[in-house]
Amino acid sequence: MQRCDSLARHSELAGGLTRVFLSREYRTATEEVLSWMREAGMQATLDAIGNVAGRYEGTRAGLPCLMLGSHLDTVRDAGRYDGMLGVITAIECVAALNEKGKRLPFAIEVLGFGDEEGVRFGTSMLGSRAVSGTLDPATLEARDANGVSIAEALRAVGLGEGIEAVARKKGQVLGYAELHIEQGPVLEAEGLPVGVVGAINGFSRLRATITGTAGHAGTVPMRLRRDALAAAAECVLAIERIARSDTELVGTVGRLEVKPGAINVIPGEVQFTIDFRAPRDALREKAVASAIAAVEKAAADRHLRAKVESIQQLGVTACAPWLIEQLERAVAAEGVRVRRLPSGAGHDGQAIQAIADVAMLFVRCKDGVSHNPAESISEADAGVGARTLLRFIESFEPRR
Ligand code: GLV
Ligand code: MN
Ligand code: MN
Repeated sequence: MQRCDSLARHSELAGGLTRVFLSREYRTATEEVLSWMREAGMQATLDAIGNVAGRYEGTRAGLPCLMLGSHLDTVRDAGRYDGMLGVITAIECVAALNEKGKRLPFAIEVLGFGDEEGVRFGTSMLGSRAVSGTLDPATLEARDANGVSIAEALRAVGLGEGIEAVARKKGQVLGYAELHIEQGPVLEAEGLPVGVVGAINGFSRLRATITGTAGHAGTVPMRLRRDALAAAAECVLAIERIARSDTELVGTVGRLEVKPGAINVIPGEVQFTIDFRAPRDALREKAVASAIAAVEKAAADRHLRAKVESIQQLGVTACAPWLIEQLERAVAAEGVRVRRLPSGAGHDGQAIQAIADVAMLFVRCKDGVSHNPAESISEADAGVGARTLLRFIESFEPRR
């Protein structure tokens, strides 16, 4: 918990926490995490895509690893546990092994992934996609709000060379386990400190652009306007209606950019994001198709132009039954009733599953609040989470 507080100081937002991928604050945070990894007896480096990667060898050097970790970037005005808690807890577990001089018949790698949230460049899980070898080099051309591409941002901090070499091969990773706060209310409602994830919901991220005609707010009569924001407002409500059509579906418009953006100018162009999540891929795909149709209709009805681009999508990721079983055994050994639950939020395991089976342990958070500075967990629950993860590691048996 102290280390989560310490990492929260690396923030571009005074009095709050915002740390986007490859920012100055992101770099200083990685320095601190590297030093904790080294203290815990790991060899640690910042890799070519900006992940912090630590390795604790097993009974001999070069053995395949159990991979642990989470992410080090944050959303805007974030809480201090989303991502960080998983990285720090994994390091603490390795530190506990190291203190006992204990080596296991496999190595442990702890990854602090960069850009899980996708806040800066719109596209998420860059770090874990590089590790799983699924990062399309074309993705590095995505640009932030200032027009800086991922490739340029990497070069500016001396990274970006040899990203292909970051990829682990199948067989080098025996499994991936991530501890994360639940970010929802289920564990709290049931009085449980931890729970085991059954599957991670799939997501689709899109960007819509509606183009009208900018004009004088005082002189253009209402019937002659081509107001892009009025159409976008209809789209936001249509997307909300689509998302409400099924209890398993959620949909969000989280960002709108209005151009030119002045009190006395009719909006000429609006760009906005769309985010859908669901535990069934067909349901999510149907929602995406309905949203595209709704945006096109809202624009056409007002004689405007619309374009909808897909930014990123990932299907539902099932956690591996054999890893779930081992995690659940560790939970039970802590004296906690075993509860399996789905993850509504996205996680790096969705990328890592390309090279290894994945599992997740959730820690209860207060009122289910996350992506919000009010995010809060108790020290006692963090302790249960850490002890459960350590038990899991110490009794981990690779799949035969
Ligand atoms: C990441 O936190 C996401 O689910 O968007
Ligand atoms: Mn998050
Ligand atoms: Mn997260």
